[in-house]
Amino acid sequence: MNVLDRRLCVAPMMNWTDRHCRFLHRLYAPHALLYTEMIVAAALVRGDARRHLEYDAREHPLALQLGGCDPHELAAAARIGAAAGYVEINLNVGCPSDRVKNGAFGACLMLRPALVAECVARMKDAVSVPVTVKCRTGIDSRDDYEFFDEFAAAIVEAGVDALIVHARTAILGGLSPKENREIPPLNYAHAHRLKRERPALPVVLNGGLKDVDAVRSQLAPRSPSGGGLDGVMLGRAVYHRPSLLGELERSVLDPRWQVPAPEDIIERIVAYARESQHQPLRLHAITRHLHGLNSGCDGARAWRRFLSEVAAAPDARPDTLYAALPLLGRRRAA
Ligand SMILES: Cc1cc2nc3c(=O)[nH]c(=O)nc-3n(C[C@H](O)[C@H](O)[C@H](O)COP(=O)(O)O)c2cc1C
Repeated sequence: MNVLDRRLCVAPMMNWTDRHCRFLHRLYAPHALLYTEMIVAAALVRGDARRHLEYDAREHPLALQLGGCDPHELAAAARIGAAAGYVEINLNVGCPSDRVKNGAFGACLMLRPALVAECVARMKDAVSVPVTVKCRTGIDSRDDYEFFDEFAAAIVEAGVDALIVHARTAILGGLSPKENREIPPLNYAHAHRLKRERPALPVVLNGGLKDVDAVRSQLAPRSPSGGGLDGVMLGRAVYHRPSLLGELERSVLDPRWQVPAPEDIIERIVAYARESQHQPLRLHAITRHLHGLNSGCDGARAWRRFLSEVAAAPDARPDTLYAALPLLGRRRAA
């Protein structure tokens, strides 16, 4: 079964796309597919799965990203994730960090397509929700299309439901994870060619997409490189300017959608933070994701300072946020 709408996705980002961040993103884009941070399969199977998987029902539709390379452990983790209500299970085959490399999973798995195929097959056996893979276009010197296509062929054979392509080669020696998201050049052509040659495989493009025009040109049926892709996934651009997500919701998914104003978002976040007060939660856990709320507009710097100095105080209360509205030249939403 593969009925999920993946036209607009928000990328899994460790330490960023936690549940509070996803709640914020959902306010901007009611229909985007949101991904969790990567959760290591062993942590779900042997650790406190409930804590790792907790979310607010309003975050849906929500996909769970797993890290791992043991087919049976991944199958067990996928089963736990699907039982918790996640609508898609995604396997991370794109992360180049040393921690991940030493655990023999992440991007280095692109060198082991048969193992990834086995992981996908076992996960598919375990759950009825779609199982997808997020990968790079290549690894180290293997940036040729044949390498990428052989990897895709193996997991297509195993029944993968969609491929999310971070369109850069991962360099495993010498570049930090951050550099690996910036230095290897973008290579959208591989993703487009894959889609042309395997039209039945849903392909979602990720990497370096920064605005509505860039997104539209990748999805358009007649994009420069041929047929359009099935979806896009954005990470940093929407994290740093979440209103972009609202613009994309309107442009890609729902032309009637009105991008919420900062005061509307603050109103919803205050209510959400109040609901969360029964838990031992610092306001900062929520507001740390709000730095881009007014990005590029008047008062953006004063707003960020307010978040760091006032809203981050250990005893800060949700209503504190109202005090900052004048900094943004805004009043409370009616
Ligand atoms: C802080 C941060 C954490 C990330 N963590 C993950 C992760 O857990 N899993 C993953 O597949 N990719 C991770 N990524 C990569 C993003 O999902 C995405 O592929 C990358 O940022 C390129 O997309 P962008 O140019 O739209 O940001 C992370 C990126 C950032 C900036």
